[in-house]
Amino acid sequence: MTDTHAYSLFRLRRLAAVLLGALMGGLLLSLQPAPVLAAAGEAPVAPAQLAKAVDQMEQLDRMRISLASTLEGSSEEPTMDTMRKVCMPVGKRAMAIGQENGWTVRQVASKYRNPDHAPAGAQESAVIDLFARHSEITGLWEPATAGQGAGVNYYRRIDVQASCLACHGSKDSRPAFVTEKYPADRAFNFKPGDLRGMYAVFIPEVQQALRQAV
Ligand code: HEC
Repeated sequence: MTDTHAYSLFRLRRLAAVLLGALMGGLLLSLQPAPVLAAAGEAPVAPAQLAKAVDQMEQLDRMRISLASTLEGSSEEPTMDTMRKVCMPVGKRAMAIGQENGWTVRQVASKYRNPDHAPAGAQESAVIDLFARHSEITGLWEPATAGQGAGVNYYRRIDVQASCLACHGSKDSRPAFVTEKYPADRAFNFKPGDLRGMYAVFIPEVQQALRQAV
């Protein structure tokens, strides 16, 4: 990591822990140093883009936690409508963040509910596995994979909170809409603190080139 990157990222003080995790994760996972960690040469995307991706995923994660907490402690039986209002809006927001920034934003889980969220390749599987083995790693970035073109992948862990168990707790306690809509559901039997999955952001290099050209 160069001084410039370190400065512009660590300026976001509240994200310092995430970035430390990112650095450690990058070191642990990569057999070769990720481009952004390379001492010489340019980072494949602008540091500001990386910082923005970190910030956007923090906001997305907080959005889910706050939506889930609205169900917690409610004495009323949640209606079909309120039950749908936790992870579906998060999925929509993730797509919108991708469109707004020219990134690809996905949620990935090996124990997935929506089969679209299954790990898409060796790198995603390896990062999920790393997050599962190292709960102290919050996020990390990795080089683009062969099919992606130039760019950087940013990954951020998603942990299970007590408030998630209303829908991701025991198999039998899942809401009816979940069992109906997701026949291949694997996203149950979690307990607080478990790894639930991760956000995966691909930031293509072309965006930076386009911005600089403007
Ligand atoms: C009200 C029910 C409900 C609650 C509460 C809930 N989820 Fe979900 N979760 C779902 C549904 C339904 C999906 C599938 C959404 C879709 O089709 O994209 C899902 C999908 C997900 C996904 C995407 C990956 C996958 O398996 O498809 C993640 C990650 C996730 N939930 C994490 C959480 C976390 C973390 C919490 C607690 C902070 C939580 N959920 C609380 C119902 C819920």
